[in-house]
Amino acid sequence: MRGVSEREKHLPNYTLPELLRILHESRTIISMGAGEPDFSAPSPLLRYASSIVHKTSHYAPTQGLKELREAICKKLKKENKISTNTENIIVTTGSQEAIFASLITTTDPADNVLIPNPGYLAYYPAVELGGAKPVSYFLKEKDHFQPDPDEIKKLANKKTAGIIINSPSNPTGQVYSKKLLEEIADIARNKNIYIYSDEAYERLIYDDEKHISIASLNGMKDYVISLFTFSKSYAMCGFRIGYAVVPKKVSDPLMESSHFLTISAPHLGQLVAVKALSLPNRHIDRMVRAYDRRRKYLVKRLNKTGLITKMPKGAFYAFSNIRHITKKNSYDFSQDLLKKAKVAVVPGTEFGNHGEGFIRFSYATKLFLIKKALDRIEKYLK
Ligand SMILES: Cc1ncc(COP(=O)(O)O)c(C=O)c1O
Repeated sequence: MRGVSEREKHLPNYTLPELLRILHESRTIISMGAGEPDFSAPSPLLRYASSIVHKTSHYAPTQGLKELREAICKKLKKENKISTNTENIIVTTGSQEAIFASLITTTDPADNVLIPNPGYLAYYPAVELGGAKPVSYFLKEKDHFQPDPDEIKKLANKKTAGIIINSPSNPTGQVYSKKLLEEIADIARNKNIYIYSDEAYERLIYDDEKHISIASLNGMKDYVISLFTFSKSYAMCGFRIGYAVVPKKVSDPLMESSHFLTISAPHLGQLVAVKALSLPNRHIDRMVRAYDRRRKYLVKRLNKTGLITKMPKGAFYAFSNIRHITKKNSYDFSQDLLKKAKVAVVPGTEFGNHGEGFIRFSYATKLFLIKKALDRIEKYLK
C-alpha cells in the first residue's frame, strides 16, 4: 500500500494541532496558546459582511479585486512607505498562502532558504514542501532575539534563494530596528538573494517602537517579497485575506502559483478588507491598548515567577525562559502546565530546536484569564 511523500515525512512533528484539539474539548483549561486575536473583527466590518454576503458566492479574480489592490496600494504608501502599483500586489488566502506561494514561485529543489529559529512554525514546512531546503539562523535570548547579520552573511551561499525575516516576531515578540534591517538589506543586495519579509503583526506594536518595512529601504524593491495580512490588525483571521507585494518580475508567476493553489482569495473577505482599510485607526488602537495592558501585566508576573521573559515590543506573544525553574524540556514542562496547572502554552521547540528551554504565552487572552492562569502556574510551581 502506498504511503505519504518523503517531503511530508521529513516535516518535524508538530504538537500544536493536538493541543488545539484538547483545548476545543476542554472547559477547564485556560488557553494562552492561541495565535489569533481573542477580539472579533470590528463591528462595522461584521455588519458590512452580513449585508453583502449574498453577492459573494462567486470566485474573485486571482490577483484580487482591483478596488482592494488600489486600497492596499494607498495603505502601503502611507503606512509602510512602500511605493508600488496594483500590478505588484497579489491578494491571497491569508498570508499563509502568500508565504507558501512566494516560496514555490521563487525556489528550486537545489536551493536553500534561511529561516529564523525559533521562528513561525509554517516557515520550515513552506520551504520544505516547496522543494527547497530550510537552513536555520538562530535568534538568541542574549541578543534580545535579534538576528545576527554576521551569521546570516556566513550562511548565505550560492544556493541561497532568500532569507525569511519576521518583525514583529512570532514567537519572540521582538521588533527589528532600522539599522538591523539595513544590514540585512545589504546582505541581500550583495548576495543577490530575496528577502521574504513577513509583517503579519505590523500594527501590533508597543512603547516607542516603530514598524519598518524592509521594502521601503533604498534600492530594495527588486529584492523584497513583503507578506501582509488582515488577520491580526483587524482580527479578521476567519475572513482569510492576506497579500504579497512583490518585485515586478515575480508578480505574474506568483499569481499563477496562487491560481493553482486556491483560484482566488475568498470574495467576501476581500470586500470586507476594502472596508477595513477605510476604517478609522481607533478600531485597531483599541485592541492594541488592551494587548499592551495585558503584555505589561503578564511579563511582570512571569518574571516574578521565575519564568524570565524579555519585554516583547510587538505581536501578542511572550517568550519565557524556563531554565531558571525547571530541568524539564519545553515539551514536558508545557505538558505539566497543561495537565497539572490547566494552562495551555506552546513549547518553544514548536518553533525550531533553538526554542528549547522556552515556552510561548499568547496574551491574545482576556486579562482576567491571564491573571487566573498565572495564579494557577504559581500554585503549581510552589
Ligand atoms: C508570523 C505569522 N505569519 C503568518 C501567519 C499566517 O496568518 P494568516 O494566514 O491568517 O494571515 C501567522 C499566523 O499566526 C503568523 O504568526
